[in-house]
Formats: sequence, structure tokens, C-alpha cells
Amino acid sequence: MSGNKKLESPAGSLPNGGPGQAPDSKAIPVAPLSLTHSRCPRVDIGQHDLPPLPYPYSALEPYIGRETVRIHHDIHHKGYVTGLNQAELELSRQRDGGDFALNRYWEEQLAFNGSGHILHSIYWTNMAPPSARKPSPGEAMLAWINISFGSLDGFKGQLTAAAEQVQGSGWAALVWNPAWQRLEVLQIRRHENLTEWGAIPLLVVDVWEHAYYLDYQNRRAEYLKAWWNLVDWNDVERRMALAMDSCVPLVR
Ligand SMILES: [Fe+2]
Repeated sequence: MSGNKKLESPAGSLPNGGPGQAPDSKAIPVAPLSLTHSRCPRVDIGQHDLPPLPYPYSALEPYIGRETVRIHHDIHHKGYVTGLNQAELELSRQRDGGDFALNRYWEEQLAFNGSGHILHSIYWTNMAPPSARKPSPGEAMLAWINISFGSLDGFKGQLTAAAEQVQGSGWAALVWNPAWQRLEVLQIRRHENLTEWGAIPLLVVDVWEHAYYLDYQNRRAEYLKAWWNLVDWNDVERRMALAMDSCVPLVR
């Protein structure tokens, strides 16, 4: 599709005049920063908990098996939470003692385990049992997808290709980029690398082998095809609405 082509969207459903009109940061009203600025709960240093699965281990069958979910959540995800708490506490001890000799190691542990915890938490809530999910995006979500990708099929093709083509272990993610007020698809090769600062993950798919190997062995494409049957757009849309409270101005 042409980069200049105007895309259809429901009249009056989009802020800032719709596609092609970047928001003017000077015109955006913003409340003074305070400790109660965010509506999101704060997690104190070293106090992260493994979120409970929002459904039973077997709820994603026949697409993802009970044992895969149990091992993935209770062992792999829990390991990231434990590692994140340890990294935060070690970094805190460094700051207290003024000795930063091991800082690089603990920063890497912070990025690796912090990204792992966040992405897995989103991954679990992005999915729902086949009978309970919203199977396709609603009108406003579809309009944003059309503005950002041209079509729902175009978006799904790009996300699937991004996940199939991640080198080694990683993720593919639908993100809202607050800097240019559009959705994007990003590859996450090992999840501590290739981050895009300011981008907020909305929909993520885990393509580390532990996510699908018991069910699909090396057939990642088959797993991805099945995974689409589990995506819950209620959750993606909730994440989109929350992410849109954020702005990243590109001018002062
Ligand atoms: Fe995983």
C-alpha cells in the first residue's frame, strides 16, 4: 500500500484528526506530576509476585497443552520473578554500599528478568479459553489497526512473520508507540535486547521453545496458527486504552 494513502476509519472515533496528523505536544493538557499521578499500582523494590494464571492449566487446550502451561508458568515465569527480585535487591545493596563493581551483571539480570516477567504476564492475559475470548477486534481497535497496518490481515501476517523469523529465542509483539501515535509490530530477540524505549507492549506471543515444544516440537508455525485461536481482544483493547494515557513528546 502507498505510504501516503489515507485509510478509512469511523468518523469521529479518532483523536488528533486521524492518520497523518501528528499530535502537537504543546497542545496536550497534562496534570502536574505527583506521587498519585499514575493510576497503576507501584511494586516496591524486590517485591514482585508471580501473578496467578487467569485460567486453569488445561484451559488453552486443544491449542496449548496442560503440561506446557504448567511448566511455562510455574517454572519459567516464576524464575523470572525470582531473578528480578534478586537483581533489584542486589542493585539496592550496591547503591547503599556505593560499590558498583558488579553493576553491569546486575543491570543485565534486571533487564533479562524484568522483561521476562512483564512479557509473560502480558502473554497469559492476552489469551483466554476458546469459549471465553473475544475472537476479533472491535470497531475502534480495527480502525487503529487499519491506520497502522492497512488491514487486519496485513497486521496478522506481519506479526506471524515477525514471530516465525525471530532468530533463536524471543517474541513478537504488537505495541502502541506513543511517540508517533501508531501501532507497530516489533521482534524481540532475547527479551533483554532490541527494546524500543517508549513502546508499550499490548499483545505478545512467546516463541521460546518452552512455550510450544511439548505440543508442537519444532513446528513453530503450527503453534503460531493455533495461538491466534486464543487471543482475547478484550485484553488487548484494555491495554491499548491504558497505554494511550502515555505521551512521548518529540519536541520540547
Ligand atoms: Fe516463555
